[in-house]
Amino acid sequence: MPSSWILVTGAGGEMGHALIHALSQTGAAIVATDLRPLPDGIADSCAAVLTGPEGDVTRTEFVQSALRYPIERIFHLAAVLSTAAERDPVRAHHINVDGTLNVLELAHQLGSEHQRSIRVLFPSTIAVYGFASLEEKMRHVQVREDQALQPQTLYGIAKLHCERLGEYYARYYRRLSGEAPWVDFRAIRFPGLISADTLPTGGTSDYAPEMLHAAAQGQPYRCFVRPDTQIPFMAMPDGVRALLMLADADREQLSQHVYNIGAFAPTAADLAQTIAGYFPGATISFDVDQRRQAIVDSWCADVDDTAARQDWGWMPQYTYERAFSEYLIPAIKHRYANVLAS
Ligand code: SER
Repeated sequence: MPSSWILVTGAGGEMGHALIHALSQTGAAIVATDLRPLPDGIADSCAAVLTGPEGDVTRTEFVQSALRYPIERIFHLAAVLSTAAERDPVRAHHINVDGTLNVLELAHQLGSEHQRSIRVLFPSTIAVYGFASLEEKMRHVQVREDQALQPQTLYGIAKLHCERLGEYYARYYRRLSGEAPWVDFRAIRFPGLISADTLPTGGTSDYAPEMLHAAAQGQPYRCFVRPDTQIPFMAMPDGVRALLMLADADREQLSQHVYNIGAFAPTAADLAQTIAGYFPGATISFDVDQRRQAIVDSWCADVDDTAARQDWGWMPQYTYERAFSEYLIPAIKHRYANVLAS
């Protein structure tokens, strides 16, 4: 028998790939859900794969199917990212908000059926922060969890609302007083994530991974934000490690439900310079998309992650230099070795 059952929604997405790879090393039985069929490399690591209506977090078929498994932890990754959400806000709201409500209901039902607390891990985002102007953004560089919560995008609004929904479930659906709630909700506000293996779709922090992957393949890249644009980023392995650390933390250690985590906060010009340093032939230019620029200009330049460091020992393994020299560059050179050789 596997040690525990874990549900991962949005398993086919960027973070899903990395998380399932890490979870599969732990002996857990993974139930993976996604709208579309999963690639073999991911599906083979899972005890069950639910796709189509059963994998669609907005549908009742999803809840009914997931209830067949004695799930103890849920990593709810399914979401529409920020640029895609601005293009179709109604669809994004449906998936990001109604989907999360379904996941919380599922956790509540699993908890009461199996008489235990279900840990729900929710990737939130720096998009919950919102500044009306660049001047204001640069006056509050390292934001704390309770500051500047005026999201300007549908994505940020939906994620902030879902954080509050999660806190509501954790508070409202309690067992006897003093006992852990049925729904043990834990969220991380992620910075932009950079993976050497995959590219995100529909995000606005995508310029960093796109720039890197283009350079590694010897392709020119036109960056859609200004060189001085600054937001926090993190190497994907650290993002996955943070989710697993928070999932494993004892409830008593946690003074809040929602945590910032930080690693490094380069400008787009810093990224271009670093990437060109590793790939001297790289051609990186700047061609600003005003709508996407406005999105990142409203996000914070960096975060204050003191609470995560104090409560559950968060510490990034990859600083800016190490992220490139020890993870991104070796892994991406290996990945595109055939492209560069041909
Ligand atoms: N990386 C996300 C996006 O760009 C933000 O959390 O949408």
